[in-house]
Amino acid sequence: MKVLSLFDGISCGKVALERAGIQIEEYVAFEIDKYAIKISKKNHPDIIQRGDVTKADFSEFEGFDIVIGGSPCQGFSFAGKQLNFEDPRSKLFFEFVRAVEQVKPKYFLLENVKMKKEFENIISEYLGVEPIEINSGLVSAQSRKRLYWTNIPGVTLPEDKGIMLKDVVHENEEQKPEGLGKYIVPFDKSLQILDKEVQKGKIGYFRKDSQANRVYSIHGKAVTLCGEAGGGAAKMGQYLFGCLTPDRIEKRQNGQRFNEGNKFYTLTAQDRHGVLIDGYIRKLTPVECERLQTLPDNYTDAPGVTDAQRYKCLGNGWTVDVIAHILKGLKTGNGQEKDQAVRDWKAAENAINKSLEDFSNLGPAGMFGVKILTPLRVRYDKGERTADLFNAIVEATR
Ligand SMILES: C[S@@+](CC[C@H](N)C(=O)[O-])C[C@H]1O[C@@H](n2cnc3c(N)ncnc32)[C@H](O)[C@@H]1O
Repeated sequence: MKVLSLFDGISCGKVALERAGIQIEEYVAFEIDKYAIKISKKNHPDIIQRGDVTKADFSEFEGFDIVIGGSPCQGFSFAGKQLNFEDPRSKLFFEFVRAVEQVKPKYFLLENVKMKKEFENIISEYLGVEPIEINSGLVSAQSRKRLYWTNIPGVTLPEDKGIMLKDVVHENEEQKPEGLGKYIVPFDKSLQILDKEVQKGKIGYFRKDSQANRVYSIHGKAVTLCGEAGGGAAKMGQYLFGCLTPDRIEKRQNGQRFNEGNKFYTLTAQDRHGVLIDGYIRKLTPVECERLQTLPDNYTDAPGVTDAQRYKCLGNGWTVDVIAHILKGLKTGNGQEKDQAVRDWKAAENAINKSLEDFSNLGPAGMFGVKILTPLRVRYDKGERTADLFNAIVEATR
């Protein structure tokens, strides 16, 4: 399969194709971040790197089988300012549309953040399909809700593997990595422990309540990795490793909870309410973030790439197992081997029209076929472009 990957980042798309068992004949990437490219090159020296999408004439890739990409999302993001298509970064979405128009691939896959319905609809209109929302939390220990627009048929939600952060942290390992201590957050008296939020996974925060300062539980999903977030723990999150006393959740705490100490401070239950026993708070390591994106350990450990760059690239990246799940549709009967005639919506429309005509011409004998096809035609006319409808049309017009 020949693959054109726009906004390729650290090439999670290639890892996903390999994981889905899809043979790659050629993989051409467009990416401008030098650290992301370094990481990609370390793992995939065979990828052809072509730089800036805005400078590309994509018609040279006509005949490629699939165009994939996750265009920069800050403009759309609920975390960002929702600047929409006027934002220069969101405008890059139109480069994806241009690529699909020029390459005319059989398949495409676009990923983006959850956004206002109004923007989502514009993207759906351009691409002719509705997105499917998948939370990476179904296949990994990270909560990460993303939208996927694709014409790969048969895309459904992956099964929930029930993985929590505690399952992927270094504390589980017999041989803990050297230097884990440097990720431990030094004691800070400003720590506020919350009551209600403890149940939802948020335990408290240092100084003021912002993403960079929040402390979460390892017993739930990790919060979404965020490549564009600022300092502190904003990109990777910080978590409490320790034991909450059983009565903690119900009780209102006040004042200072932690004993002042060194990095490996111990949190005692001496205080009447008893909060924590033998705990510490630490940021996730780059390797743990790789696990949250279901990448191999040390995937982003490349020469000349700092921890800060690794966090950024991972926060911008894809959850490989989600992408591999979607791409599996290329391998099954719903994909590559499926009838060429119904690979795109235009062909689906033609197929449904033709079948309706044939069944109508049969008179009463064709009534059953007309009954099945008419509601599908109504859904199509209303603008629905879901994998579900596509598959139903394929089945009904066989
Ligand atoms: C949301 S990230 C996509 C990451 C990718 N899916 C991955 O698996 O790592 C968007 C990427 O677009 C890249 N980008 C931004 N402007 C670009 C441009 N003009 N040409 C090519 N890539 C660009 C950014 O550097 C960033 O890596």
